[in-house]
Amino acid sequence: MKMDDVSGAPAPSQAIPVESDDVAGQWHRVVRRRAFLKVGAGVAAAAIPAGGLLATNAAAAGSALNKGDAAILRFLAAAEIIESDLWVQYDELGGVKGGNAAYILALQNLDGDMPQYITDNTDDELSHAAFLNAYLKSRGAQPVNLDKFRTLPSTKAKGARQIGRLTNLQNLVVDTSWYTRYRSSENPDFGAPPRQAIQIVNEPAIPLNDADTSPGQQQPVPPTTPSQQRMQAIANTAGFHFGYIEQGGSSLYTALSLKASDLEVLRIVVSIGGVEVDHFSLWHDKLGNAVAQPLAGVKDPETGVTFPDLNVPPGRELFQTNKILPEPTDFISKGLPECSVIRPSAIENAGAVATIKSFTADLLFQGQSKEFFDTVMELARAADAARRTL
Ligand SMILES: [Fe+2]
Ligand SMILES: [Fe+2]
Repeated sequence: MKMDDVSGAPAPSQAIPVESDDVAGQWHRVVRRRAFLKVGAGVAAAAIPAGGLLATNAAAAGSALNKGDAAILRFLAAAEIIESDLWVQYDELGGVKGGNAAYILALQNLDGDMPQYITDNTDDELSHAAFLNAYLKSRGAQPVNLDKFRTLPSTKAKGARQIGRLTNLQNLVVDTSWYTRYRSSENPDFGAPPRQAIQIVNEPAIPLNDADTSPGQQQPVPPTTPSQQRMQAIANTAGFHFGYIEQGGSSLYTALSLKASDLEVLRIVVSIGGVEVDHFSLWHDKLGNAVAQPLAGVKDPETGVTFPDLNVPPGRELFQTNKILPEPTDFISKGLPECSVIRPSAIENAGAVATIKSFTADLLFQGQSKEFFDTVMELARAADAARRTL
C-alpha cells in the first residue's frame, strides 16, 4: 500500500452500508429496550418522542458520531499515521524488501524472521490508519491528514527513500521502563516510578549513512569491528524501540476504550488495540535476544550505549529476558489481588496526551514544527476529554 492511501487526502465519498432486514430488526428491538430503560419503568414506549427514535435509527445506519467518539478515532488515526511513518522507515531498511543488507543481518541476530515481522507490523499500521480515516468519513466525521508535516529528512543510509518524514528515528532517547514494568507487581497507575531496563540516549534506531555503517558488511555475533558494533547497537535500539512503540499503543487503546460511547466505535478500539498488544508481545520476545547470550555485551563505539546481559544478577526476575508474559500487578485497588493486565491504563498515564508527551520525550518528533505539536496535542486533548455517554 502506498503512503498516500493513509494520508487522509480527500477520497470519493463512501457509500453507507445498508442494513439487512435482520440487522434492522435487531436494532429496532435494541432501541425499544434502551428507550424503555431511559424513560423508566411504567412509562409506555409509545410516549417516546418520535424524533428520538428517528435520531437513534439514523445513527445505526452510519450517521454522525458523537463528538467524543469522533475525537477518539481522530486521535487514533493520527497515532496510526505517526506509527505508519516510523514503521515504513524501518521497513525500507530492514523489512523483507529492505535495502540495507547489514542492518538486516544485525536485526536477524535478534531473530531470523525479523524482516518479515517488521514488514507485517508495517502493513498492520498502514491498515489501521487507512481504516480509521475511512471509517471517520463514513460516519460523517473529518479524517486526519498530517501530510503537510512530512518535512523531516530521511536517513542517508542505503535503502531509505529520500522523502519527507513525520518522525525521526536518528537520535532517540528510548524509554525502556516498559520492560521492567511488565515484570513488576507495581503499576504506574498506582504511582510506581519508571525503572529503565537499560539507558538508550541519543542513539539511532536506523543506520545514518554508509560511511558510518557499511551496508555490505558482515554482522557476526559478537560484532568485532567498530562499524559492526555500531550497526548492532543501532539494530538493538530498534528492538527496544519496537517494544516501546507497541507497548504504548497497547496502553493507549485500552485507556481510550473506556471513553467510547457507540458500540461500533468500542468494537473498533478494542479490535485494533488487541493487535497492538499482539505486536508488543512479539517485540518483547525478540528484544530479549539483544540482552542475552550470545549477543549481549554490545557497545556502540560512538555513543557508548551498551546492551548488557540482563540475565546476570542483580537483575533477577525484573530483568530476566524470557519473562515475556505479563506478571500480575496492582489493578483497580490495592485491596484486590494482583492481576495480569495491560499497564498503565489510566488516562493520565496512557491516554492521548500522555502518548504525545512520551513520543516527544523519545525524540521521535525532533525537528518538527510548533504547528505540528499544536496540531497533535489538540487532537490528543480532544480525545482525552471524551466522556462515555449511554
Ligand atoms: Fe496500529
Ligand atoms: Fe502499533
